Amino acid sequence: MKSVLVIGSTGQIGSELTMVLRRKLGGANVVAGYIQGAEPKGELLESGPHEIVDVRDAARIAEIVSNYKIDTIYNLAALLSAVAERKPLMAWDIQLNGLLAILEVAREKGCAVFTPSSIGSFGPETPRKGTPQDTIQRPRSMYGVTKVATELLSDYYFNKFRVDTRSVRFPGLISNVTLPGGGTTDYAVEIYYAAVKGEEFVCPIAAGTFMDMMYMPDALKAAIDIMEADPSKLKHRNSFNIASMSFEPEMLRAKILEYIPEFKMRYEVDPVRQAIADSWPDMMDDSCAREEWGWKPSYDLDSMTRDMIESLRKRFG
Ligand code: SER
Repeated sequence: MKSVLVIGSTGQIGSELTMVLRRKLGGANVVAGYIQGAEPKGELLESGPHEIVDVRDAARIAEIVSNYKIDTIYNLAALLSAVAERKPLMAWDIQLNGLLAILEVAREKGCAVFTPSSIGSFGPETPRKGTPQDTIQRPRSMYGVTKVATELLSDYYFNKFRVDTRSVRFPGLISNVTLPGGGTTDYAVEIYYAAVKGEEFVCPIAAGTFMDMMYMPDALKAAIDIMEADPSKLKHRNSFNIASMSFEPEMLRAKILEYIPEFKMRYEVDPVRQAIADSWPDMMDDSCAREEWGWKPSYDLDSMTRDMIESLRKRFG
């Protein structure tokens, strides 16, 4: 990995991954791809090249790949689960027609491709606890449908055309830089913002609903480590379960109360997001990722909470 294009560089994952890659590979070697209306700002704008690119525009992707001699594409353009339920056709278009455009360019130009999958690729028939790497994947949400298809199409391009596709199934991602937009796990980010700002948090997910979660620094490390893994050790490709913590809203409330005793929270459950959350795993088994490329997370609920609160306090005073 020497020269990278990040598509979706101003989103929740992209805004941080682009900066980590620039620090690692040099600013000039990481192109921040973005769409109109989501322009990069500040450090992201100033630290390296940026190009307008719609993930569905294969000609434009090919042009950027040629101009910058790109060898690796991070495909982070996506609608999250709750938004995808409101706009299912658009989710299909971005997630799958976009992926196909990237894979075709990658096949012609010899690029490696990372397209994240998710806990959303599982469904109600999937074993909830210790969710195996290879198991039933029958999601009911459009987000999940596109994620299963992403895994299959990415494996197809590897098996058929030897395109170097690799990826992970991300848990709900928690970060303090860019807010996620319309996911089922967003509550676990928003709760920290409310707590630090001294606002009451209205939780859209019911008490007792466990989901896999992960702190962003671990997710970024996974996205880079998988692309740098020794390919001869990989028995799987798309996509590896990765896990670090699992909690439900009451556990998160209790943990935040240790740091902010005056924190207040009540419930107003959103039926759309609750139905999605109920169909997702409680805790994935990530032993294949650990064995095949040495995956190991650093953060647990306590260390993440400490870091989130510290970082947000610096920002909001
Ligand atoms: N965080 C995503 C969502 O909630 C899941 O991958 O939609």
